[in-house]
Amino acid sequence: MFASRLSQAQRAIQAALDDSLAFYPDLPVVHAMRYALQGGKRLRGFLVLESARLHGIYTAEAQSAAAAVEALHAYSLIHDDLPCMDDDELRRGHPTVHVKWDEATAVLAGDALQTLAFELCCDPMLGARRVELVAALAKAAGAEGMVMGQALDIAAETAPAPLTLAEITRLQAGKTGALISFAAEAGAILAGADRAPLAHYAAALGLAFQIADDILDVTGDPAKAGKKLRKDDAAGKATFVSLLGLDGARARAHDLVAEAEAALAPYGAAADALREAARFVIQRES
Ligand code: IPE
Ligand code: IPE
Ligand code: MG
Ligand code: MG
Ligand code: MG
Repeated sequence: MFASRLSQAQRAIQAALDDSLAFYPDLPVVHAMRYALQGGKRLRGFLVLESARLHGIYTAEAQSAAAAVEALHAYSLIHDDLPCMDDDELRRGHPTVHVKWDEATAVLAGDALQTLAFELCCDPMLGARRVELVAALAKAAGAEGMVMGQALDIAAETAPAPLTLAEITRLQAGKTGALISFAAEAGAILAGADRAPLAHYAAALGLAFQIADDILDVTGDPAKAGKKLRKDDAAGKATFVSLLGLDGARARAHDLVAEAEAALAPYGAAADALREAARFVIQRES
């Protein structure tokens, strides 16, 4: 079920993104935006659509929010790959935006994808509570969320001592967790429902997701991952693998998936696709 729901989500998200850019000017920065939006697993957008479905909100009513989180994520990847950040040349199997165009275009395409995300969240199709969604996305993406995590990640490269488990957990909860939490809670926000079970699910899922990313960096196949691997150790990145070792990181990821699945108990079988998503997150090869 997860695989078919994910491919449905991928199609809905691509259609919404294509529509949103259809009348943009014919400029290199816009080509770079479209380029950066291609590919990807669309896991965050899938989480938006599944959490919406749990609350009786159809895909057609929620797809702007799913497209929004993927636009914001695409911006974060463009900037993450810049020479002043991780200095990566390959993303989703293709040259990164600053390699294919130049750094200025990459910065601007990222900026414009971020504003596009907020524009998408203002789509009237999302209903009366969309302003709460805008606020939640701003919080997740900003200096209390993803930007904080990215800043801590960069700072850790030159920190005098290795980070503690608590520090790495905080870093990763911001860097990856905040946007995943936004995505998983979006349906509850739009429905005005209790966010707590999905918040609990997403906290565990987000951490498991980043642990899997760190494990992939060490053990993955670059051809499948579509990005350069074996970079974290060389860059002095603080990761769960650097702290717990591979086996410790795998065990922690497994425990987190069990925790994520358990958090979905209030939704019963309706949340099965989200349970499968949690298992997928730590088995993925890309
Ligand atoms: C990669 O995210 C960056 C991290 C936050 C670890 P994904 O693994 O979701 O990347 P795509 O969107 O599928 O390319
Ligand atoms: C990226 O984390 C997180 C964000 C873009 C917010 P990483 O730097 O670990 O992601 P990859 O490994 O380059 O995909
Ligand atoms: Mg990074
Ligand atoms: Mg990176
Ligand atoms: Mg990584």
